[in-house]
Amino acid sequence: MYMKVIKIIVLAIFSVALLSCGGKEEKKKEGFRYDKKSEVSKTVENNLNDIVITGNDAMQFNKKEIKVKAGKKVKITLKHIGKMDKNVMGHNFVLLKQGVNLVAFGNKAASARKSEYVPEGSKDVIAYTKLIGGGETAVIEFDAPEVGTYEFLCSFPGHYGMMKGMFIVE
Ligand code: CO
Repeated sequence: MYMKVIKIIVLAIFSVALLSCGGKEEKKKEGFRYDKKSEVSKTVENNLNDIVITGNDAMQFNKKEIKVKAGKKVKITLKHIGKMDKNVMGHNFVLLKQGVNLVAFGNKAASARKSEYVPEGSKDVIAYTKLIGGGETAVIEFDAPEVGTYEFLCSFPGHYGMMKGMFIVE
């Protein structure tokens, strides 16, 4: 009789412990699932890598690295947040194909003034914006290239030394 009572008490404590433990576990899982779901639905809704990058009068982009998801569109919004004219402090965003040497391209591009410093019919580029000056904005959209690491630059003469970065497709 005595043993039976003890057994019941032990059992009761055990099941309470089990229940509360199970409850916590479930809560955690639910929270995790919720986060995951909202992240995924956001991506599906947009189906877009929406990137904003700025250039200033000090010859700088605000980003050295851009990461995008493969298999989706990429929208690049380039904003010139400076005041200087595009003939003096012009900026563009040029995304190079893999294997293209950035310095070699930059040097070649510098003489292509008529086509805003992207050589006409260039096979070195994946996408590029027009050249803009202070206060202006340029927007382009293109399909994300295949997974890998690419380089981007501003091809205005003399800018690629400072205005460049990595474009990573994951
Ligand atoms: Co520039």
